[in-house]
Amino acid sequence: MSIIGQGIDRTDGRLKVTGAATYSAEHQLPRLVHAVMVLSTVPKGRIVAIDSAAIKAMKGVRVVMTHQNAPRLAHSKGAQHEDKAKSSGGQQTKPDKKQQPPNPKLSLLQDDRVQYNAQPIAVVVADTFEQARDAARSVKVRYAKEPAQLNLDQARQKLRAPEAQPGRPSESKRGDAAAALERAPVRIDALYTTPIENHNPMEPHATIAAWDGDHLTLYDSTQNISGVRRTAATTFGIEPEKVRVVCPFVGGGFGCKGSTWSHVMLAAMAAKLAGAPVKLVVERTQMFGPVGARPLTEQSLCLGATTEGKLTAITHDTVSHTSFVDDFSEPCTAVTRKAYQTESLHTTQKLMTLNLGVPTYMRAPGESTGSFALESAMDELAYKLMMDPIQLRLANYAERDPEKNLPWSSKSLRECYRVGAERFGWAKRTAEPGSMRAGRMLVGWGMATAAYPANRQGAKASATLLADGTAVVRSGSHDLGTGTYTVMTQIAAEALGLPVSKVRFELGDTSMPEAPVSGGSQTVASVGPAVWQAARGVRHKLILMAVADRGSPLHGVAVTDVDVADGWLSHGTDRARREPIGAVLARHGGQSVTAQSNAEQEADKKKQFAMQSFGAVFVEVHVDPDVGTVRVPRIVGAYGVGRIMNAKLAHSQLMGGIVWGLGMGLMEKTEIDWRYGRAVNENLADYHVPVNADVGAIDIVVVDEQDQQINELGAKGIGEIGITGVAAAIANAVYHATGKRIRDLPITPDKLI
Ligand code: MOS
Repeated sequence: MSIIGQGIDRTDGRLKVTGAATYSAEHQLPRLVHAVMVLSTVPKGRIVAIDSAAIKAMKGVRVVMTHQNAPRLAHSKGAQHEDKAKSSGGQQTKPDKKQQPPNPKLSLLQDDRVQYNAQPIAVVVADTFEQARDAARSVKVRYAKEPAQLNLDQARQKLRAPEAQPGRPSESKRGDAAAALERAPVRIDALYTTPIENHNPMEPHATIAAWDGDHLTLYDSTQNISGVRRTAATTFGIEPEKVRVVCPFVGGGFGCKGSTWSHVMLAAMAAKLAGAPVKLVVERTQMFGPVGARPLTEQSLCLGATTEGKLTAITHDTVSHTSFVDDFSEPCTAVTRKAYQTESLHTTQKLMTLNLGVPTYMRAPGESTGSFALESAMDELAYKLMMDPIQLRLANYAERDPEKNLPWSSKSLRECYRVGAERFGWAKRTAEPGSMRAGRMLVGWGMATAAYPANRQGAKASATLLADGTAVVRSGSHDLGTGTYTVMTQIAAEALGLPVSKVRFELGDTSMPEAPVSGGSQTVASVGPAVWQAARGVRHKLILMAVADRGSPLHGVAVTDVDVADGWLSHGTDRARREPIGAVLARHGGQSVTAQSNAEQEADKKKQFAMQSFGAVFVEVHVDPDVGTVRVPRIVGAYGVGRIMNAKLAHSQLMGGIVWGLGMGLMEKTEIDWRYGRAVNENLADYHVPVNADVGAIDIVVVDEQDQQINELGAKGIGEIGITGVAAAIANAVYHATGKRIRDLPITPDKLI
């Protein structure tokens, strides 16, 4: 029986529940001192004065680092946005325009300028955390304030296109959408808006920085140890080999830990000044501003269709906000370009610039927000046509990728609609809004399509078989709580022919073979093949040793006829010709056997196939007609995501995504006080996310899907698709329940009464 696919428990589960898993802020170093960041309290201006001397005199304070005394950083011409390199359709590296700072989105105390409220402007280092916090709270700053751009109406007057990124055009066109819309007998034209949201992993960002001469070690909570290493090397003008980044455990990432933010480099700078290792933990309130956010989006969507429900035109014009520090464009239109077959399409993405922190990737960046608009609009069209929403989608099913005009490497969306509808009981739905009730509650049923690209990047791994018959497999990847340790152990065990208990998988250290950023849902599809290949390499070496060894019962057997399973080498069912792995190694002086891998997708695969995951999500809502509260007693999600590596963890990933979609639909919003450009609900009491009581039954089906193209494992990513489509399905269900179309997230009670 295959080890891959089994829903085994997390191999790191015991470490986590016993507190033995060491998170970034928990590493123990001698002489460790504590840093706390001071953030700006104005959205724009210059720092005129900081009372550093008074703060320095406080008990236990070692360093007060401001723009006046912070180490000057290396000018590095042509420095790269290394940590931006993600594979999802071209989040590519680009050279810096300016010479300094090395990464323009980092506020590294190199000048007196303030570009957003909550920008890091000082770091206080003290013997204890309490002393550092007390001192940081006491810092008094005088600013020369300048008028900030925090007026959305004014910002909308100055829209601009984002800088073009390879593989991710800000505009796309097929046919003449304007003319087709004009001609279309049935049209939808609506504006959908989504708010700023902030990532709030249970473990906030945290860094410990330690210098040994010009060698830097960073214990950093990150989705990208290699990206942090490159950013540190560029920032400090040292070779990447002199930087080691360690991160064995991440308490949630969701995109905010895919980039290197200011606090990482500030911790290293403060450690230089303190002459001691420095720990810097980003406070919960500090998660709202200096470490990214999902930008607000304003999406105009037009659909044109025939009276039979055949789409003839789609236009999708998106505006998302960005900062004055660096650009980020939320790619809302990416999903629209691929979702349905239509003769014409026109999509644009524009930016409005505000004096806020730099926005960034947040779980399914673009697909989560974009699918809210597109899948709401499809529901509006279905009502206008008096057509079943699934039938409308089937009538416009994209048999090939309409953007690239390529066949899909695999697509099971039709099956997802069928299976999902069946499990949900969709056939019993009466289409009329307000036609279904449960007691005094209005009942609504809605559905939407889920979609997310199947990304993959190059990755390396090593596998070593030890004399005791166990194996150690390594790759510099990450486990964000997603299950990388477990899944890679399973892949390695199966490739090696060892039981899971005999394989140890290690990750999270730049001294290991390099793996890409754990973003874009690509870890399993990228690192999985690397682990597989390294493990197969070791297995092959072992077989070669055995068949060439006169002392082995397998001596002389053809290499391809030797099987390795459950720790034994064997030849068919011949019980005389088998021996344990350890016996082969013992006869070779107990030496270990190692193999390396460098796994990349074949160059022309992406030219031959479009790679994408799809799903269908069905939601039931109960709306209280008097107070407008929305409850979600059940959700059904059906997904085609390639071959599943671990059934239990896949279920958890998809369920987590769906729960977040529920929060996105009904609760999540960062409330900005637009007078000051500061989040006012910057804590987990006022920033609403679903709790257990908000979550009803979630039924997840993964349909059987073979993908021969993406990698030898047939694995697509599952990290992000779960959130996509959910907010639209909720909005569609709310319309079905109430007859009210809410196009502005989140759908809070005030919008329904
Ligand atoms: Mo994900 S937002 O690509 O970490």
